[in-house]
Amino acid sequence: DFIDAFVVVFVAAFLLGSIPFGLIISKVFYHTDIREHGSGNIGTTNAIRTMGKVGGYSVFVLDFGKGLLSGFLGIWIGQLFFSLHGYGAVAGELTAILAPFRLGPVGDPAELATQFSQVLLAVSFLGCTWGHIFSPWLKFKGGKGIAVAVGCLFVTYGVVGACLELAIFIVLVVATRYVSVGSIAAALACPFFSLYFFWGDWLAVALCSLAGLTVVWAHRENIKRLLSGTENRIGSKKKA
Ligand code: G3P
Repeated sequence: DFIDAFVVVFVAAFLLGSIPFGLIISKVFYHTDIREHGSGNIGTTNAIRTMGKVGGYSVFVLDFGKGLLSGFLGIWIGQLFFSLHGYGAVAGELTAILAPFRLGPVGDPAELATQFSQVLLAVSFLGCTWGHIFSPWLKFKGGKGIAVAVGCLFVTYGVVGACLELAIFIVLVVATRYVSVGSIAAALACPFFSLYFFWGDWLAVALCSLAGLTVVWAHRENIKRLLSGTENRIGSKKKA
């Protein structure tokens, strides 16, 4: 049934998200372990600190790419389920699955199909972000999920939503010179964007919000450093 689609998308996105490109690039091309440098994170910011621009931006492209791909997986797997089960069959089953998460009466089949697709996008966003942050290949201690989340959001919220998220990130990074401040603000904005894009589809809102809040949680060490005034600033030589 359609729960299968959610599980398949979640597992596929989680596995994709779990590939630790930051660690792989540091080991293969720089013969070092990125986790032993700077903040110890495997993400773009620490990759730039540790490996310079080429290594760092390569990590960004790959992490962003796995997010983007997981979003598309959400769409493709959804389409596959539609073509296997037929459009008519969608309505009844989705009514049962999704109705508890809606306010008001359940809509027509086309609306349900949209809702189904939105939930799959939200599932792929959560799966990929969790895969990256709780990577089983790194004893569940992965990255912080920013590049991955941005990649996912280009599909989940669309280009406009993702660009607005990026704008929040860039403005705050430029204003404060703390990458983590931009990251945390963009992640905190996630629940609000999900309300805007998926209003009425509360399961999708909940899943996207959970993904955003997990990214905030992944920055807990940065938050401690910000509060104690020891966070790395762009351009500063100090290592945390
Ligand atoms: O997205 C990661 C960034 O917000 C902070 O990275 O290495 O300074 O902890 P880092």
